[in-house]
Amino acid sequence: MAESTRNVTIRWRIPPPIIALLLFLPIVAGSYFKPFNVSYDHRALIVAGKRRMLVSAGVHYPRATPQMWPDLIAKSKEGGADVVQTYVFWSGHEPVKGQYNFEGRYDLVKFVKLVGSSGLFLHLRIGPYVCAEWNFGGFPVWLRDVPGIEFRTDNEPFKKEMQKFVTKIVGLMREAKMFCWQGGPVIMLQIENEYGDVEKSYGQKGKDYVKWAASMALGLGAGVPWVMCKQTDAPENILDACNGYYCDGFKPNSKTKPVLWTEDWDGWYTKWGGSLPHRPAEDLAFAVARFYQRGGSFQNYYMYFGGTNFGRTSGGPFYITSYDYDAPLDEYGLRSEPKWGHLKDLHAAIKLCEPALVAADAPQYKKLGSNQEAHIYHGDGETGGKVCAAFLANIDEHKSAYVKFNGQSYTLPPWSVSILPDCRHVAYNTAKVGAQTSVKTVEPARPPLGSMSILQKVVSQDSASYISKSWMALKEPIGIWGENNFTAQGLLEHLNVTKDQSDYLWHKTRISVSEDDISFWKKNGANPTLSVDSMRDVLRVFVNKQLSGSIVGHWVKAVQPVLFVQGNNDLLLLTQTVGLQEYRGAFLEKDGAGFRGKAKLTGFKNGDVDLSKSSWTYQVGLKGEAEKVYTVEHSEKAEWSTLETEASPSIFMWYKTYFNTPDGTDPVVLDLGSMGKGQAWVNGHHIGRYWSIIAQKDGCDKTCDYRGAYHSDKCTTNCGKPTQTRNWGNPFKISVKTVTAGILCGQVSRSHYPPLRKWSTPGFMNGTMSINSVAPEMHLRCEEGHVISSIEFASYGTPRGSCEKFSTGNAMHPNRYQSSLRLVKDSTAASLKCQTLHFRVTHVEEL
Ligand code: GAL
Repeated sequence: MAESTRNVTIRWRIPPPIIALLLFLPIVAGSYFKPFNVSYDHRALIVAGKRRMLVSAGVHYPRATPQMWPDLIAKSKEGGADVVQTYVFWSGHEPVKGQYNFEGRYDLVKFVKLVGSSGLFLHLRIGPYVCAEWNFGGFPVWLRDVPGIEFRTDNEPFKKEMQKFVTKIVGLMREAKMFCWQGGPVIMLQIENEYGDVEKSYGQKGKDYVKWAASMALGLGAGVPWVMCKQTDAPENILDACNGYYCDGFKPNSKTKPVLWTEDWDGWYTKWGGSLPHRPAEDLAFAVARFYQRGGSFQNYYMYFGGTNFGRTSGGPFYITSYDYDAPLDEYGLRSEPKWGHLKDLHAAIKLCEPALVAADAPQYKKLGSNQEAHIYHGDGETGGKVCAAFLANIDEHKSAYVKFNGQSYTLPPWSVSILPDCRHVAYNTAKVGAQTSVKTVEPARPPLGSMSILQKVVSQDSASYISKSWMALKEPIGIWGENNFTAQGLLEHLNVTKDQSDYLWHKTRISVSEDDISFWKKNGANPTLSVDSMRDVLRVFVNKQLSGSIVGHWVKAVQPVLFVQGNNDLLLLTQTVGLQEYRGAFLEKDGAGFRGKAKLTGFKNGDVDLSKSSWTYQVGLKGEAEKVYTVEHSEKAEWSTLETEASPSIFMWYKTYFNTPDGTDPVVLDLGSMGKGQAWVNGHHIGRYWSIIAQKDGCDKTCDYRGAYHSDKCTTNCGKPTQTRNWGNPFKISVKTVTAGILCGQVSRSHYPPLRKWSTPGFMNGTMSINSVAPEMHLRCEEGHVISSIEFASYGTPRGSCEKFSTGNAMHPNRYQSSLRLVKDSTAASLKCQTLHFRVTHVEEL
């Protein structure tokens, strides 16, 4: 078939105008690629008739703004990705049952089109349960209210809603011509997510659900393969895939399926009060190289860019607003170096091996030592001739190994893989980082200079950039604030009442206290106590509008002493959620919020007061939320007053101010470190929750050793004092800052590999020239809009230390290197400072 097509092309030489017309047709059918099909065999995905080794970059579109998408996709491509992978976020697309939203950060089609127009493929994981540290695992909260529903099992109401949403998304892709056979980028889909982890809890119904989900998905005629990750009983015509820190031992559940890694956890997420995870680049590269070494063919970084959980989208309990994830692109979309660069080199090395990797049906195995092994791929190249690539691994966690392979000697650092695209020369070793290290600096933002007088410019350069010297304040009432409250007997489940329209739920009841009670407490020297069997995530207790205390925890017992006066007292309980459960195993729909079990007041003369039976008045949310005082349009209607610097802070306050868009192109951040706990909006956009909670003291390693198996508690940073919340904040100290890579460092030695791009020089791959004759190089580059402002350190010979701690060794070492950084000898180290690129404007201005 292929042969005859080729012949046809040659024979049918048609005049130019008609060729133009023929080429035009596929562009109308689908705009980004000549339509192609995707299938698979046991070795790899087959894209447009060819097996492919694919590298995929996880980027979740609603975790960035649409303005950021083109840059994130471009940086994924530049980093060596072939594919972008994203989940689809049901709760964002169908916030109200039957009402869809595909606007702004949820403009899925726009995102997919951008991926296509950059020439990358897309793996769309529809779920629609996605987990993903997303509120409620991606399910819209209204789904709980569908009568008779049980999530993720053989349950008709659930299956109906799931099918409706999945059909909607597949339809959307088809209509926009986004599938590869239509000329779009979508090459693969996903149904469900790690259902294998919970399937047992559902018994036979779980097994039936898997079969149903598979056939429902296939029935949609999307025309590309579907994946079920972590699903050992995935049906024959659905791919199963691995998720984890390492997946090199993974075997799919059928010999006809390729080895896919849908989630390579290159970092981890963080909770309020937790430390910041960090996965070393060397270990990540090791895991990826081992995967392709042992037969893997598709690997996705979860996440390549993590981004931000805007609004109230972060899952829980207690997931923070940032979803940086220690990904190769940081929360702001800046390269996280050396991770980004080290992986870029790795991807280039894997690409060089691709012809051999796809030519072989399986690798040839060779033991090189007790903890060392080689996998060799060889076969016939596509363009004729033999191809060969090899991976040499040393899985010893401590020692380097000296091995012989094909008659040559190789040194393998501990816990590393060397990649040999020609079975002879090392193009890359996972433990040798040639990429630059960037140290991020956060600086006060510079106001737009153009609009200022010279005097203002001088002043603004020096002053700490607090966002504003003038703030407006609006008091949020404590307790029931409006008409739309209701009274019911007993303690209601929080989500049943709030429908997650707000984090907050007020509960109010009246407690009458007799003279006898008061004298009883005086006599015993004890106060009554509120005791709640179980609560999540934050509970604030007020008596007569005065705060008695706050309790933080996830399904913990709450015990809070309270002070009552004689007569009637208002007992106010405010329950708060900080991200709904996203992964709790099975039965997510049964996981509510607020209180569980009983609540009582103890210590009264006549025995306990059972609050679970009391009459309670409920109000959902805050008054300011209901009045939308955070929007530009509604803000003016509220009665704001000027905040005095010495004003005593109130428990619940709205604050607002104005600031100018800072100068330059660096990412802008708000430093809310002076505040307690709350939520923030900019121009009516909800940017997320904040909480100045301090990370736990212990658990951070002083040094980070990349060697040995990674887990999320290894190499964490940012440990501090015991977790605590600062009380009420000071808005005058909020500042606007910009983030950039302010300091860059690099170090290479003779034992590093030559630049990967040199491999494209004719002669290297076919062995007529030796790559060994090419010296390694070090490249340092500032972020766009920045220039090198100074060279802090530059030395060759035997420099020591690491980034920001370099020192010269004993060999020749011209420090303070002036003109260029071409320092090549045994070893070279350098560090630079980057500065914002200033444009000099010369004009005269009258003061
Ligand atoms: C996986 C899950 C992802 C994400 C990840 C942790 O189990 O499939 O959605 O939650 O864990 O970041």
